[in-house]
Amino acid sequence: MFEHLKAQPADKILALMQAFKDDPRDRKIDLGVGVYKNADGVTPVMHAIKAAEHRLWEEQDSKAYVGLAGDPAFADAMIGLVLGDSVAQSNIGAAATPGGTGACRQAFELIRMANPEARVFVSDPTWPNHLSILKYLGIEAMAYRYFDDETRGVDFGGMIEDLKTAKPGDVVLLHGCCHNPTGANLNLTEWQAVIDLMLDRGLVPMIDIAYQGFGDGLEADAAATRLVAEQVPECLIAASCSKNFGIYRERTGLLMAVSQDAGQRKLNQDTLAFLNRQNYSFPPDHGARLVTMILNDDGLRADWARELEDVRLSMLGLRQSLADELQRLSGSDRFAFLAQHRGMFSRLGTTPDKVEKLRADYGIYMIGDSRMNIAGLNARTVPILAKAIVDAGV
Ligand code: LMR
Repeated sequence: MFEHLKAQPADKILALMQAFKDDPRDRKIDLGVGVYKNADGVTPVMHAIKAAEHRLWEEQDSKAYVGLAGDPAFADAMIGLVLGDSVAQSNIGAAATPGGTGACRQAFELIRMANPEARVFVSDPTWPNHLSILKYLGIEAMAYRYFDDETRGVDFGGMIEDLKTAKPGDVVLLHGCCHNPTGANLNLTEWQAVIDLMLDRGLVPMIDIAYQGFGDGLEADAAATRLVAEQVPECLIAASCSKNFGIYRERTGLLMAVSQDAGQRKLNQDTLAFLNRQNYSFPPDHGARLVTMILNDDGLRADWARELEDVRLSMLGLRQSLADELQRLSGSDRFAFLAQHRGMFSRLGTTPDKVEKLRADYGIYMIGDSRMNIAGLNARTVPILAKAIVDAGV
């Protein structure tokens, strides 16, 4: 049997992570995988997470199964965080999932189950694993233009034109904030135009929100998702706690199925629980429990929000200093977009050859499409990167 297996394509983000580890050079700089690092290059456990873990260790008296959709208290807390009061809780089916990837995977499975004809429109570019999972599930992915190589902003005209080719029932996958991999985002007026188009054409939005709190703040980053959820008849929302709670390895996420028709909720909820059962039965609980404790405790929540805000501001500071240094060295404003992008990533907008040159000659690791993890930088490495970018002729 095993001899029939075929080698699968390597995930380019994870392959780069390995290549970085294998590089013996001391001065190498990792701008690859989307993991936050502080100025010392450490991905810290957030204070509030430590405090919640301590409390959990003292208070938890059972590790028995919870429920197929996870703890409802986790869903409630996360719905509050992501959707605020934009949608009545009674209209939302929700299930805990292993991370944001698990939420995306379950969402795609639900789409295929509900409408096998549906195609999923994805931004060009999008997170590569979106495409990989869609392909694996046999769902047709349709690219819509998103990134403008000239301005390094959103090609909004192209996006709208491409979305107009979608058929009723097709799904539009949108990044709720902090677009991965580009860092370029729609403003709220543009979001509204996309919503109007989706309403007009009977398209179903699916929002992947994995970086809430990393862009313009916890509330601002949720604004677009809320705008969508309160206006469309139905949508799917895949939320991740990996980044904003710093609990990457705990695999903590939530899939929400929102419907304006409250009568639909039970079926949605039962379907999410069924899908969990088929794939892994009970979703992981540890991270979800920590998140619930933090969101439901005023002190822990304030501490978490403060630390997250520090993380956000440090990334904004790095963006600005990189843009300034590039302005100084290149004598031009063509890198100003770095300060305008939001979230963990920016797409530099250069060729794979130049990306390879930066890796080979300078030990700077970014994804082949020139996505950089801004959080991989610090005050020491910003000038090194800026100089390498200019010297490499980017
Ligand atoms: C990334 O885009 O680097 C992260 O979301 C990590 C991953 O799983 O790819």
